Amino acid sequence: MKTSIAIYPGSFDPVTNGHLDLIERGEKMFDLLIVAVLRNAEKAPLFSVAERVEMLREVTRQWSGVEVEVFDGLLVDYARKRHAGVILRGIRAISDYEYELQMALMNRKLEPRLETVVREIAQLGGPLQGLVPPVVEERLRAKVS
Ligand code: PNS
Repeated sequence: MKTSIAIYPGSFDPVTNGHLDLIERGEKMFDLLIVAVLRNAEKAPLFSVAERVEMLREVTRQWSGVEVEVFDGLLVDYARKRHAGVILRGIRAISDYEYELQMALMNRKLEPRLETVVREIAQLGGPLQGLVPPVVEERLRAKVS
């Protein structure tokens, strides 16, 4: 049953197959899933925000219930603005959990109506191939060459 709007925030530098796994599953759970790229998350990102958004839009094109946007400032303020009730986050390993818990607790303190859902994302090991969508792999290779 889908009854809400969720935000999947992150830096997505770049989008990986693990992120896509979560987007695909999130799209089934919510009426609208907003993939929100934080502007200026890191001082030296690999890809610009515009490049990250472009790649995300390209690889999520098949899902009509997914939107890609950029946000600044506090995530809770952005969630209020978009009328979202859920924050979706992924973890690959238990070691990621502590960071997620801290963020979820802080966000709950700032906005108690906002629920954080943390999901395990698919572990995709091995070389670059298979870790990122082909279009991202191409851009990564161009970036490092
Ligand atoms: O992919 P990342 O880098 O782990 O994503 C982190 C992100 C963007 C979710 C987090 O840094 C964030 O929400 N930043 C916005 C500022 C904010 O709301 N901070 C308070 C929450 S701890």
